[in-house]
Amino acid sequence: MDVVSPYKEVFKSKPRLVVRGPGRVNLLGEHVDYNGGPVLPAAIEQSVWIAADDSGSEQINIRALDLNEAVSFCLDDMGAKQDKKGHALPVWALYPAGVAWILKKNDLKIKGINAVFSSNIPMGSGLSSSAAIEVAFAVLWQTLGGWSCDRLKLAQLCQQAENQYVGVACGIMDQFATACGVKDHALYFDTRSLEWYPAPLPKGTVLVIADSGMRRSLTSSAYNDRRAACEEAVRLLQKYKPEMTCLRDISPQEFVAYGEYLPPLIRKRAEHVVKEIARVESAVNALEREDTRAIGALMFAGHVSLRDYYEVSIPELDCLVSLARSLPGCIGARLTGAGFGGCTINLVWAAQADEFIAGLEQGYREKTGRQAKVYVCHASEGTTILPVE
Ligand code: GLA
Repeated sequence: MDVVSPYKEVFKSKPRLVVRGPGRVNLLGEHVDYNGGPVLPAAIEQSVWIAADDSGSEQINIRALDLNEAVSFCLDDMGAKQDKKGHALPVWALYPAGVAWILKKNDLKIKGINAVFSSNIPMGSGLSSSAAIEVAFAVLWQTLGGWSCDRLKLAQLCQQAENQYVGVACGIMDQFATACGVKDHALYFDTRSLEWYPAPLPKGTVLVIADSGMRRSLTSSAYNDRRAACEEAVRLLQKYKPEMTCLRDISPQEFVAYGEYLPPLIRKRAEHVVKEIARVESAVNALEREDTRAIGALMFAGHVSLRDYYEVSIPELDCLVSLARSLPGCIGARLTGAGFGGCTINLVWAAQADEFIAGLEQGYREKTGRQAKVYVCHASEGTTILPVE
């Protein structure tokens, strides 16, 4: 992606840095990262690219090339979420502004910048375009400021920016995946202990993304509602298990007993989380044994649970998953990300990927009259600083 030429056009000079921040898919472990559970995401090649340099002042000047919009705001006054003329910042600008705000709050040196950015991660598609922007800007300010901070810590800071500045109560999975991605690997990440390691994908398989074309906004209250339901479940379950602080602390065996005492809706939400955590643990064991059949079964089961218990799927995603299941080459399929629209992730035998992609596109067209974008994606490395050509 060329962001250098547009930068030169806008700022009449050469940028000092280009940063690439990847999107992510999640293979398993959905809506468990804010419940202390383990997740299995992978960074992907679809990314955001930023070209930037010091602005030489306290001014932050950013142009979103894809939207053809620009904002200018001042480092001194980010709490107000306004541009320098006193207008509210557009939503897209809250992400870099939130990162600047949190870095400053943590006494990390940040400078005024000139920046342009462009992305080929479709917004609202569940592939984590916001976290990619956040972490890429954090790495940019880190590089210009010359301070050190490990990637996990940077991911935590970006999550705080999204929670406290943008106002989405997201977990840490997306920021982690874009910050720490490893080429050709999924990442097993325990969101409670923060331990993680790269897990190779099964030999002979590829990941296929199917974009339903349906879009959602994460800031919508549904995500925060689900999180509140989980917190309520913990509060109610503490009556039986006082030491628990998150749903990770209750095993599926214990849930069989205590889950009965929860109100029906809260119980459904919690049941998804408790079993999804168990599914990730099973999937990791299955990956070690190269038991692809088990991984596929866990993915399908995860989708059913997101559809029926967590209720974050939509008919188009259900359609993509059930079509995938009937196609040759498909090992597993489920919605990926928060849900309410966006994409499914499919684990497919590489040798049958072309046939699978064509079949899924055709089936989706026939069933919904809509065009899905279906493509192989490659697990990629995390946020990277690239040479300016
Ligand atoms: C969004 C959030 C993540 C995570 C997923 C659901 O992508 O940003 O923290 O909660 O939804 O697994």
